[in-house]
Amino acid sequence: MGATQEQIYSGLDVDLSWSEGDLPERERTKHVHRLHPYLGKYIPQLVEELFRRHVPADGRVLDPFAGSGTTLVQALESGLDSVGIDIASFNCLLMDVKTREVNPFVLERELRDVLARFARGEGVAAVPTPFLEAWFAPVALEELLRFRSLATDYEHTDVLSVVLARAARSARRTSHFDLDFPQTPQIEPYWCYKHRRECRPVERAEHFLRRYTLDTIERLKAFARVRQAREVRVIHGDSRELELPGPFDAVVTSPPYPGLIDYHEQHRYAYELLGLTDRRASEIGAAEQGTSKAAIAAYVQGIAGALNSCADGLRLGGRVVIVVNDRRDLYPEILERAGLVLEQRYSRHVNRRTGRRSGEYFEDVLVARRS
Ligand SMILES: C[S@@+](CC[C@H](N)C(=O)[O-])C[C@H]1O[C@@H](n2cnc3c(N)ncnc32)[C@H](O)[C@@H]1O
Repeated sequence: MGATQEQIYSGLDVDLSWSEGDLPERERTKHVHRLHPYLGKYIPQLVEELFRRHVPADGRVLDPFAGSGTTLVQALESGLDSVGIDIASFNCLLMDVKTREVNPFVLERELRDVLARFARGEGVAAVPTPFLEAWFAPVALEELLRFRSLATDYEHTDVLSVVLARAARSARRTSHFDLDFPQTPQIEPYWCYKHRRECRPVERAEHFLRRYTLDTIERLKAFARVRQAREVRVIHGDSRELELPGPFDAVVTSPPYPGLIDYHEQHRYAYELLGLTDRRASEIGAAEQGTSKAAIAAYVQGIAGALNSCADGLRLGGRVVIVVNDRRDLYPEILERAGLVLEQRYSRHVNRRTGRRSGEYFEDVLVARRS
């Protein structure tokens, strides 16, 4: 790797280290970025700035770990073509819904029609799986299943599936302070740290279904006003194995990190409700795999393999831009194995404020090219 880390390191980039005042939550979760919660995404403003710095105007970007689709959505806003790959089918559904062009009139008519029929008691609740029975109160479950049966009657079934999943997430039998990683269903009333009083687990889903349907209409309409007419492609698959539809002008991505998050498990309710394919065994760095020596070695090999095939798809002079909190210092080896040379590395200060994971930390932006 030509220059050493020390020579390349260019320190804290204050322009990428926004405070809450500079960049309030409603900006970070603008339009479709808040269609459904997703743990482990990066913020759209960071992606916009990385495009400005490292992707030519009118270019084509690839994200091999596309997650909830932040790169793809921002590519549409910035006037770039994009391709996103993810191993988790729910993430691909979410990306599709965020990025597909919709006719706002048809969308609104259909979604309001579902709400009207739902309010009249239409729809049929099918027999639930044991997981659904355990995680939802009987009335909430009946409402979710009835909504699901109505959703299949429309052109925008996928949009309604995302609404359904979001409502299900909120209606699970969990405590208010443990929506991210609930371990067991919360059946009884409990002392709530968030609200400082006794709270009860949710019993209905109806109000969430209504609220999120209306919110989704507004968010998709807001995005339709700012998106540009560019190509976007979502691919469900393992980025180590796919034949990539190159060429690309840049790769912009935030890979999974070892032992931190289970990307399938965090949306288990959606897999159960929507009957989606589960490919968790191919997730790189899943929390379930832990951080043993063998797990870290498999992680290094997996990310290097994926980045190596991305590098093969790059146009001459194209850059690979990776956002990562590399506290185990794995990326020098990963880049080398992927046939990449580090050109620039800057750091940004991340302000985390929410939930039990609150605290502050730094993440790096690594900019590499083919060796
Ligand atoms: C850190 S997240 C990316 C988040 C994304 N930047 C965003 O803003 O939503 C990493 C993603 O890599 C995906 N992933 C893990 N292993 C993969 C594999 N073998 N092939 C493709 N995607 C994979 C996970 O499902 C997860 O969605």
